Amino acid sequence: MTEYDDKGLPQESKSYWLEGVDLPAFPSLEENRKVDVAIVGGGIAGITSAYLLTEKGYKVALLDSDTLLHGTTGHTTAKVTAQHGLIYDELIQNIGEKKAKKYYRANLEALQFIQNMVEQQEIDCDFRKQDAYLYATSDEDIHKLKKEAKAYDRLGIDGELIDSLPLTDIKVKKALVMKNQAQFHPTKYLSKLVQKMHAKGAYIYENTTAVNINSDKETKVMTRNGKEIKADKVLVCSHFPFYEGTGLYSARMHASRSYILAAKTKKKFPGGMYISVGQPTRSLRSVEINGENMVLIVGESHKTGQGEDTMKHYQALEDFGQKTFGLDQVVYRWSAQDLITLDKVPFIGKITANQPHTLIATGFRKWGMSNGTAAALLLTDLVTGDGNTYADLFTPLRFNAKPGLKNILVDNANVVGQLVKGKIELPDDKLKNLSIDEGAVIMIKGERKGAYKDKQGNVYVVDTTCTHVGCEVGWNGAERSWDCPCHGSRFSYTGEVIEGPAETPLKRYDYHMLDNLTSKDSGY
Ligand code: FES
Repeated sequence: MTEYDDKGLPQESKSYWLEGVDLPAFPSLEENRKVDVAIVGGGIAGITSAYLLTEKGYKVALLDSDTLLHGTTGHTTAKVTAQHGLIYDELIQNIGEKKAKKYYRANLEALQFIQNMVEQQEIDCDFRKQDAYLYATSDEDIHKLKKEAKAYDRLGIDGELIDSLPLTDIKVKKALVMKNQAQFHPTKYLSKLVQKMHAKGAYIYENTTAVNINSDKETKVMTRNGKEIKADKVLVCSHFPFYEGTGLYSARMHASRSYILAAKTKKKFPGGMYISVGQPTRSLRSVEINGENMVLIVGESHKTGQGEDTMKHYQALEDFGQKTFGLDQVVYRWSAQDLITLDKVPFIGKITANQPHTLIATGFRKWGMSNGTAAALLLTDLVTGDGNTYADLFTPLRFNAKPGLKNILVDNANVVGQLVKGKIELPDDKLKNLSIDEGAVIMIKGERKGAYKDKQGNVYVVDTTCTHVGCEVGWNGAERSWDCPCHGSRFSYTGEVIEGPAETPLKRYDYHMLDNLTSKDSGY
């Protein structure tokens, strides 16, 4: 039974998409193996690639460090659309009209692919065609929207400016509609693909953490437990790449978190998918939960580890929902982490110029369902050697000078700023001041430590220095995790890695022995 806090929000963060996923548990990798294609990452890009390649007769192994679908794909809003907020005017400015058009078409083809799969394979996944609306509520936003509408015209996008929304509870000044987009239930859809490829002989390994790729003579994925998979091609689809080669991906992407509520509303939601032009972003779509129509209320994005008290983001969404529709009950709350490249176009293709057999797909921004599917279609063509018209748009080897250099400097200045800030800001909280279910950075004997007191009163103490490149992590109260402000690594309150690029857990301390500041690797 869901427990609620005094503000009416569920106490635990839990994604609706992960309720009742219809998949068996898969074993971890216990022996070395040789396959045609090894794929690391059991989200939409990895699973769709594995499915497509298996269908084409390749021997595939799919690995996940957790269980399939429990990463970003299990925490999405699950809009399947090429309307990615305000993007096309910016893309035309930065990468030119031809590539901007390719971005649109790649995403539209991804939507069409999903629709074909649903229809041809009869996948029951609540797939619904919906129009998508980008709306402006201020004069400044109207100006941006009009520029975006002009970009739609130039790119031949099926859309138009309109004066009001079907969702009349939001008073808008203008809106830009993109017709015939879609929404679905992502884990129902992907579970079916997993079942089909497993039946055709694909190897699937869960709880198998890939830690390195060795490309000396043959390409091999090395796992934490000392096993390896040899493969002609390796696809890195692990959200943040578990392996960067010399591609400097940490410096070319940043991580952003956003928040989602699934709520019963007093007013009826008319259908359609919505996203605001203005800040803070508000994104909406319907969802059917246990036969009841509900609304997903999404927004409050911020760089990982750089937000305020994370529960405030959920409260802001709840306030917006109350004001807009009146809320009967918030049934689920969860959050998502997305990776954003410097030019906002995903990286899909060879990881570096000198490692042609290792391909990567990452940086889908907040639009992983369409971008992730587009990635799988492109990766499949790169493996089979079939030409793909989108390869030059998405290649990670690109350097788009316009947003590139400036944003590298800004993003890395931000990282340096966070690194320095974390080292000089000393906390004044004490262990004894921690309440039940509270975490904080505290000082113990002059040293900075992270502590969390669980509901039973057990205390978990970790070293707050991120194991990636040494920034200081901060407490995320809504998810009960330690989040790094530099490149978005996240750790559980016990210090285990939840999201990379960090690979190694935070150092843990036995708090009973902290008088001597004695570290222990496990157990309390
Ligand atoms: Fe890079 Fe923490 S994620 S220092």
